[in-house]
Amino acid sequence: MPVETKFDPKNMQFRHLGATGLKVSVLSLGGWLTYGGTVKGNPVKDCLEAAWNHGINFFDTAEVYSNGECELEMGKALQELNWPRDEYVISTKVFFGTGRKEPNTRGLSRKHVVEGLKSSLKRLQLDYVDVVFAHRPDPATPMKEIVEGFTQVIRNLNLAYYWGTSEWSARQIEEAIQIAERYNLIAPVVEQPQYNAFHRERFEVEYAPLFKQYGYGTTIWSPLASGLLTGKYNEGIPKDSRFSNNSQFFNDTIKELETPKGKEKIEKVKKLTAIAERLGGSTTQLALAWAAYNQNVSTVILGASKPEQIDENVKSLEILAKLTPEIKKEIDDILDNAPKPVATFGRDR
Ligand SMILES: NC(=O)c1ccc[n+]([C@@H]2O[C@H](COP(=O)([O-])OP(=O)(O)OC[C@H]3O[C@@H](n4cnc5c(N)ncnc54)[C@H](OP(=O)(O)O)[C@@H]3O)[C@@H](O)[C@H]2O)c1
Repeated sequence: MPVETKFDPKNMQFRHLGATGLKVSVLSLGGWLTYGGTVKGNPVKDCLEAAWNHGINFFDTAEVYSNGECELEMGKALQELNWPRDEYVISTKVFFGTGRKEPNTRGLSRKHVVEGLKSSLKRLQLDYVDVVFAHRPDPATPMKEIVEGFTQVIRNLNLAYYWGTSEWSARQIEEAIQIAERYNLIAPVVEQPQYNAFHRERFEVEYAPLFKQYGYGTTIWSPLASGLLTGKYNEGIPKDSRFSNNSQFFNDTIKELETPKGKEKIEKVKKLTAIAERLGGSTTQLALAWAAYNQNVSTVILGASKPEQIDENVKSLEILAKLTPEIKKEIDDILDNAPKPVATFGRDR
């Protein structure tokens, strides 16, 4: 009997999640602020389905997104879509909790890593996630306990296959890996950092040794700087956009747009538009392609409030195919923010 499959990879590209054997589509889809937040019910399913129909196989959520509502909405959509579980990859994250204030309902204690993930799985209506992330470092919990907690959910409880870090420093990631090796525990394999044309330093400089030494994977977030890199904020804040729908959360970002620094960013976006048009695409597509061009990116997590945005954003792969080192340099010259690599005094190899 042939294996029944519902997954059609289309023209999608796949990359390994770091040094693991797991393959993820180079573009993926997450639900921060959207699913369970500004987007509910059938439109959530429509977005997931649009992504799937373009060959996206990786989806991301977190316990804290809309205080658990994101997992509930995505879980409901996944139930309805009924894709074979072995054809898609899903991650969630623990740390921030779901808005409750009790002492043990957040953080990375072994208790919350186990109980937080169990609660996430209930909301998602799943038996396991493929990757569970520590959504932030937890300086209040010993690193050995954190690594033990994630080892337990993978090795003993079968609630996840891999674990990762999100917005951890390279030093903290290295410490977790070393502890795992010393005590025969499971090491994290992937980081979820912010990475986009306006936010580069940590990814390109601080994490460089992690990529080289451990083949550490990355699932990058806010590749469009929450929409700034689409050009939609060039002339102010449009109605029903992320900045207008979450104006309190983005208060500082919105204020920055009025400052010389913010105006300079908008000017750069406008200059990127000229390159995008020359390549036959949109500013959005160029910004996504710019991120995916970095081979240390395992997957670029898209955010989308409408299926049409996904339709537009997957076409960034056509722009990616056209990017050359010369065009990359042209973009970087406009951005004028390439971080300086660590000095090696001629001893690099
Ligand atoms: N680990 C972490 O700490 C962390 C933090 C943040 C996010 N994440 C993950 O990363 C994912 C992606 O981050 P993000 O949502 O911030 O990504 P993003 O790509 O920077 O922003 C996505 C938003 O931009 C707008 N947009 C997207 N495509 C567009 C298009 N073609 N035209 C016009 N507007 C468009 C939409 O907002 P509107 O339509 O509402 O304007 C969309 O929701 C999240 O869903 C989450 O899974 C992780």
